[in-house]
Amino acid sequence: MCGIVGYVGEKQAQDVVIEGLRRLEYRGYDSAGIALVDDGAIASQKRAGKLANLEKAIADAPLPPSTTGIGHTRWATHGAPNDVNAHPHLGGARRVALVHNGIIENFAELRARIEADDHVLLSETDTEVAAQLLELQVESGIDLTTAMQRVAGQLEGAFTLVAVDGHDPSRVVAARRNSPLVVGLGDGENFLGSDVAAFIEHTRDALELGQDQVVTITRSGVEVTGFDGSPAEGRRYHVDWDLSAAEKDGHDWFMRKEIFEQPRAVADSLLGRRSAEGLLRLDEMRLSDQELRDIDKIIIIACGTSFYAGMVAKYAIEHWTRIPVEVELSSEFRYRDPILDYSTLVVAISQSGETADTLQAIRHARLQRSKVLAICNTNGSTIPRESDAVIYMHAGPEIGVASTKGFLTQLVACYLLALYLAQVKGTRFGDEITEIIEQLEEIPAHIESVLAGADAIYELARSQLGARSVLFLGRHAGYPVALEGALKLKELAYIHAEGFAAGELKHGPIALVEDGMPVLCVVPPLGRDQLHDKMLSGIQEVRARGAYTICLAEEGDDRIAPLADVLIRLPRVPVLLQPLLAVVPLQLFACELATAMGHDVDQPRNLAKSVTVE
Ligand code: M6R
Repeated sequence: MCGIVGYVGEKQAQDVVIEGLRRLEYRGYDSAGIALVDDGAIASQKRAGKLANLEKAIADAPLPPSTTGIGHTRWATHGAPNDVNAHPHLGGARRVALVHNGIIENFAELRARIEADDHVLLSETDTEVAAQLLELQVESGIDLTTAMQRVAGQLEGAFTLVAVDGHDPSRVVAARRNSPLVVGLGDGENFLGSDVAAFIEHTRDALELGQDQVVTITRSGVEVTGFDGSPAEGRRYHVDWDLSAAEKDGHDWFMRKEIFEQPRAVADSLLGRRSAEGLLRLDEMRLSDQELRDIDKIIIIACGTSFYAGMVAKYAIEHWTRIPVEVELSSEFRYRDPILDYSTLVVAISQSGETADTLQAIRHARLQRSKVLAICNTNGSTIPRESDAVIYMHAGPEIGVASTKGFLTQLVACYLLALYLAQVKGTRFGDEITEIIEQLEEIPAHIESVLAGADAIYELARSQLGARSVLFLGRHAGYPVALEGALKLKELAYIHAEGFAAGELKHGPIALVEDGMPVLCVVPPLGRDQLHDKMLSGIQEVRARGAYTICLAEEGDDRIAPLADVLIRLPRVPVLLQPLLAVVPLQLFACELATAMGHDVDQPRNLAKSVTVE
């Protein structure tokens, strides 16, 4: 949820840390802070609000030069987002500074213990408790690494802790459990970050850490141990994108840039998936053909946009493989005692690979002996590491809080999984699979043509500036698209928006329709006659009650024109692939309407990109 940076090297730590925080700000922007090791003491500054507030505070009261430091950008959990609760937190003697991501569940008990010893805590946070415990350890004469091992072992919950000791400029020490942290490996310098964006301009060599590990970085090296001090090792990897991928590249928002990157992202996620013989090949598929043949049920778990990708996947997997699929919100999954065994494949979809609800759900599934396959965008993240197999999305970094290219590439990965299962189980002929892959390979060009119509969608969005409530309708694979369109509008424009299966409307929600209310309708392709006809009936029903209908329909669909106040054309593709195109105008619509309303599209209120708490 929060963004964390640590640095030790030859450069000015303040510059490295602030730049790292800028790249991580999408993870949380309730407050920001920095701590530097300064000649036997800690120099620190923190401010509520966005990073710009911290930068202004530093400009007004400059920090001393230092080559060792840590920083934090916060998404508030414990305590209001004010200056006092902002990180870093210092021990009472101001010797240790600590930043934290996650929730320390036993903090009340630890706090009571500390206060009983007459130590005064200034903030409402769980973090200050850990800072105080750490400082008490180093004050007893041990080094920061040993102190971190001892403290981390006492904590319950999910946490990444990163700390510096004012008496020891040589090291930055971190601990992680159920919360993200990666090491950036430099030359004469090393880095810590919640994700690689924190240090991508300095190095693309990274070290993935395991669960319950403590890592110490110095200028010359990196040492990893367990919480018990036993030696451990991380996994080295090279980041396959560079700094330019983490820049806006002339766009006003990362989100807009990422929408326009979708043709390339989809093409990249399809790249290298076919063998010389034309067979589908998934390199990171660590499940054997026999294990896949044994699967008799699939449960997809995910949150938010990823959940809607999972809903689309259900249609594709069931249609192409005839394996029954359930789709479930990760946060609900383990609490209903799901029926799982070795023949159930659990598919966890997560762009970040760090979503705590999904992580806990896959752990539950593996305890029940089910195999878990992750669909993920982030190399080095926890969910693929803890899964039996993974399909990487290859979308490149997604920085806008609202997922866009993440959704499209999740869909591609789901289609590939469905086709791969069909190939292994023999539920589709090889030439059928090839035909679908070829249709997928045409999608990037189709997205380009949808994007070419962006100006008209922007104009439409601006015309809806006064809208108080917007409905989205779809059927079949268009239903999750409607849900996704509504989510985009809610999270960016803060407008009440709801997505419905069009056939369900008459069972209640149609009561919401008022004169002039915008209703966006995802119309199924003409080839699916029954579906198409039923959708048209739904549109007629809302028009009869005064709705302003904005219809997304394929080229050549002449029957829709009389029912649409505004008609947005989509290239003709099979119904199962239509979500890849239909969602794009909805993304553009939400982005532009939010922009026109003066909202910060990349950092919508109350949200953070990666939700690492349950
Ligand atoms: O990283 P994940 O895919 O696991 O994230 C899941 C959701 O938190 C995410 O899709 C969220 O709903 C986005 N803000 C949607 O735009």
